Amino acid sequence: NGKPSRPAEGTDFEPVEPNTADAVHVPDGYEQELVIRWGDPVLPGAPEFDFHNQTAAAQARQFGYNNDFVGLIPQDGAGRRNLMVVNHEYTTEPHMFPAGSYDADNPTEEQVRIAWAAHGLSVVQTLRDPRGGLRVLPSRYNRRITADTEFEVRGPVAGSDPLKTSADPSGRSVLGTLNNCAGSVTPWGTVLSGEENFHQYFANADSVTDPVEAERLRRYGLAGGETSRKWERFDKRWDIAEEPHEPHRFGWVVEIDPHDPHAKPIKHTALGRFKHEGAAIKITKDGRVAAYSGDDERFEYLYKFVSNGRYKPGRSAHARRHNSRLLDDGTLYVAKFTGDSPASEIDGSGRLPSDGEFDGRGEWIPLASGTTSHVPGMTAEEVYVFTRLAADRVGATKMDRPEDVEPNPVTGRVYAALTNNTDRGAAGKAAADEINPRDGNRNGHVLEWEEDRGDAVSTTFAWRLLLVCGDPAAADTYFGGFDKSQVSPISCPDNLAFDSHGNLWVSTDGNALGSNDGLFAVPVQGRERGHVKQFLTVPIGAETCGPVVTDDVVLVAVQHPGEGGTPENPQSHWPDGGNSPARPSIVAVWKRGRFGRPGHIGR
Ligand code: FEO
Ligand code: CA
Ligand code: CA
Ligand code: CA
Repeated sequence: NGKPSRPAEGTDFEPVEPNTADAVHVPDGYEQELVIRWGDPVLPGAPEFDFHNQTAAAQARQFGYNNDFVGLIPQDGAGRRNLMVVNHEYTTEPHMFPAGSYDADNPTEEQVRIAWAAHGLSVVQTLRDPRGGLRVLPSRYNRRITADTEFEVRGPVAGSDPLKTSADPSGRSVLGTLNNCAGSVTPWGTVLSGEENFHQYFANADSVTDPVEAERLRRYGLAGGETSRKWERFDKRWDIAEEPHEPHRFGWVVEIDPHDPHAKPIKHTALGRFKHEGAAIKITKDGRVAAYSGDDERFEYLYKFVSNGRYKPGRSAHARRHNSRLLDDGTLYVAKFTGDSPASEIDGSGRLPSDGEFDGRGEWIPLASGTTSHVPGMTAEEVYVFTRLAADRVGATKMDRPEDVEPNPVTGRVYAALTNNTDRGAAGKAAADEINPRDGNRNGHVLEWEEDRGDAVSTTFAWRLLLVCGDPAAADTYFGGFDKSQVSPISCPDNLAFDSHGNLWVSTDGNALGSNDGLFAVPVQGRERGHVKQFLTVPIGAETCGPVVTDDVVLVAVQHPGEGGTPENPQSHWPDGGNSPARPSIVAVWKRGRFGRPGHIGR
């Protein structure tokens, strides 16, 4: 007890102390460098960023705003060249323009078009610099996807009535993707990205009087009149009174093929419609494709899709096309969890029950398979488009904001970040249970489960909590059974990644302990299981996204630095310093002298 233990393979670094600096702090002996910032050129002919003279045409060729998910896809055996794919989740216009030039009540059309162009994704080719870091190359692979890019709708509800609009009577062609939060690189080398809080872009839900339609909108948080961004003034598709079906065309998992800059991106309806944090793939023992996905809102659910068809290994154009099609035909499930401790021992305080674990069993409840609904009173079409309502009906377990879900490639177990839920146990809301064991959950927890027979096709599983986050000195925290006097405080887990040793890396969003957000490494096996160590911190007001953890470099997306400030009183000038505006950016971190030498990121 209290004795420093021998670090797990891959986590041998001195933890970074919590802080509130306007900087990225990394462990002693590590180096950092910017890879790309909001506004930096992506496409040929893109101008350099000019904060005082922005145009939509320039932004559509430059790196977008508020980078979130980062995927790094090697193009050669040595990983010298990589395609880097980045989500641009959302815009905060007051931070994007010089003080006094953005009137939230009356944005100009050009400002609104800049915001459309700042959403979506970027693809850039990068070259590893032997001295450290990644250089963005001018390349034919470089691509911007924005709120105007055409997507192909695929899967069971492509072409169905709820997806048809006056601009798209086919119901198969959608312009744009919005609020792309987390994501994953598929085994076939494409990227899946979740459309999360899409409700905020649509105006005038309160014009809908039909009670069934109104309930469907309400269940997705579509409410009220004008939106804060006022996009509806410049394109009627953002106005539900004009285009009642347009919101049904968002809230999907999208797939981007970065190897083919001309490939039309896809919206996969078979994975259901909700506030997808992201989606991540695991191959089943019989070669099918399972996709895990969380719906990030208080009291929402965890989902799994399992394909009917079988995976073809490889990243050839043929394999990419084949495997992408697998995501259009299968069964969509939602998770139900039961605890194994008596209800009397689960009192909302977060104290461990007498068996020493928050743990139990779970089952995947089928919602729909192709054109067949498994939900009484709902058609398959309704299940896919209004998935939340389907999950409500089958008694799925209401969770504390499911964020990223990722399978561990080393152990095969699956992990989910449950970021927080301050409404847990509030009047009229669901009370604490063994899997969401704290009322007023401010710091979140991390869930681990193992599908029965270790097979992602199983419809039953065993689960336990790996971390109950917060101040390790507090009685309501748990660090996988590890000695709490040795761990870093961690709050509000969001994105998850694994290193080649199978250690879990957790990035945070909204640290409720008063320090900046950061990135943490935690072994999940052996004597070091639960030994959380902070690897880096991000600037004030920022959220830590990405992350990518390879054997010799870590990439994080620093999202919304200085978001708590105002244009008149900026909180952050990161990364350029002085009086410059804060710019969301990607940062590379490596161990000094060890870049390009595998196995050394945490050693
Ligand atoms: Fe966009 Fe759920 O974080
Ligand atoms: Ca238990
Ligand atoms: Ca997130
Ligand atoms: Ca989040």
